[in-house]
Amino acid sequence: MIKFFLFAASALFAEQTFSIIKPDAVESNKIGDIESYLETSGLNIVAAKLIHLTPEQAQEFYAVHKDRPFYKDLVAYMTSGPVLVQVLEGEDAVALNRKVMGSTNPKEASAGTIRADFGTDIQRNAVHGSDSLENAKKEISFFFKPEEIHPCTKSK
Ligand code: CMP
Repeated sequence: MIKFFLFAASALFAEQTFSIIKPDAVESNKIGDIESYLETSGLNIVAAKLIHLTPEQAQEFYAVHKDRPFYKDLVAYMTSGPVLVQVLEGEDAVALNRKVMGSTNPKEASAGTIRADFGTDIQRNAVHGSDSLENAKKEISFFFKPEEIHPCTKSK
């Protein structure tokens, strides 16, 4: 009975966020290490696929940055090799994922965060994570159909 209530409560508060392991981290064989940071923090991987973004996909995904000076380079970088797109689930998943990722610029990220440990520079920063629940929903639906996501059924 207690287990049932714990399960119901965790399902009620579970949130989903969107994550990308970027080309630099995929190329340097860091997928496993990065997933370990995420899972150890309490996030569950409920959908994942390795894809090679087309220029059109990268342009649309990062359209919010289209007037920034780094936009063209960002699109070139994000299409330079395969990326792992994924959906992470857990309590406060959006905020938790951002905490585990660390600051955008790896040089400013706290020790022990993914970007501090695996990022190279502000562009090649190993991972992307949604910055709000609203954007998480948009970004998840950009890459995944509902049937490709497998919400966590583990009782904690
Ligand atoms: P991400 O979290 O994917 O969101 C936008 C991306 O743009 C960011 O990570 C970096 O890869 C990149 N980016 C942000 N700011 C800069 C910058 N000043 N110069 C180059 N790239 C940047």
